[in-house]
Amino acid sequence: MKDQLIQRLLFRLKQTWWNLTVIPSLCSSGVEISEKVRIQGKPIVSLVKGSRIQIGARCVLCSDSQFTALGINHPIVMRTLRKGAEIVIGEDTGISGGSICAANSIRIGAGCLIGANVTLADTDFHAINPVNRRYNNNLNEIAMDPIVIEDNVFIGSNVFVLKGVTIGKNSVIGAGSVVTHDVPENSVAVGNPARVVKRIRGTLKRSVGPGELSISGLIPAR
Ligand SMILES: CC(C)(COP(=O)(O)OP(=O)(O)OC[C@H]1O[C@@H](n2cnc3c(N)ncnc32)[C@H](O)[C@@H]1OP(=O)(O)O)[C@@H](O)C(=O)NCCC(=O)NCCS
Repeated sequence: MKDQLIQRLLFRLKQTWWNLTVIPSLCSSGVEISEKVRIQGKPIVSLVKGSRIQIGARCVLCSDSQFTALGINHPIVMRTLRKGAEIVIGEDTGISGGSICAANSIRIGAGCLIGANVTLADTDFHAINPVNRRYNNNLNEIAMDPIVIEDNVFIGSNVFVLKGVTIGKNSVIGAGSVVTHDVPENSVAVGNPARVVKRIRGTLKRSVGPGELSISGLIPAR
């Protein structure tokens, strides 16, 4: 009992410390942070001049294994890789560890759950053309295509989402999947490459959570 109390106090102290230190340092490096964002642990963030990273209200960004059930392999990594790139995260979204790297655009909607150690990368980082690949930094020869994660999507742990993918609202991606193509809304997709195995049924227009996020367009439950 006493141990639990001390643990809770320690967690609260850590949370306060991060809010007081990490949030101002992210803001001063150019990250746009909305109100009531909770930062747990110190993410690794780099922002190229002329690009942007925007984090919506009430998001939780967890970079400390003590604060997430599964634990994480490394702190959250968020990088824009070139001028004009963007990472935009909607309100009430939670992210545990993993990497988000945008050469073009990665947009995550509201109310999403991005599981432990998920990677979202909208570029291949290197050219497919083998000629001088090792030293070829010509951005015109390195493929990139925006990623869109729509509202209320749940991505399981250790998923890799590749360039050009849109995951439709309310959908679920199974743990360890590699998402190479679009996933329609209200679907469960799993595997490598991820394939839709189920449709999700639910109640129309239900509100949940502090953001009163409206869940719309679900297939009515029978
Ligand atoms: C995606 C998930 C939520 C679906 O759960 P579910 O609706 O109960 O799905 P089912 O168990 O009925 O599986 C449906 C089919 O997909 C397969 N499948 C499920 N998850 C899979 C996965 N991650 N990879 C590959 N195949 C998977 C099942 O084997 C089953 O195939 P079958 O019909 O041929 O037997 C669940 O499987 C999962 O991956 N959970 C982990 C979520 C997670 O990572 N949470 C932590 C976040 S930090």
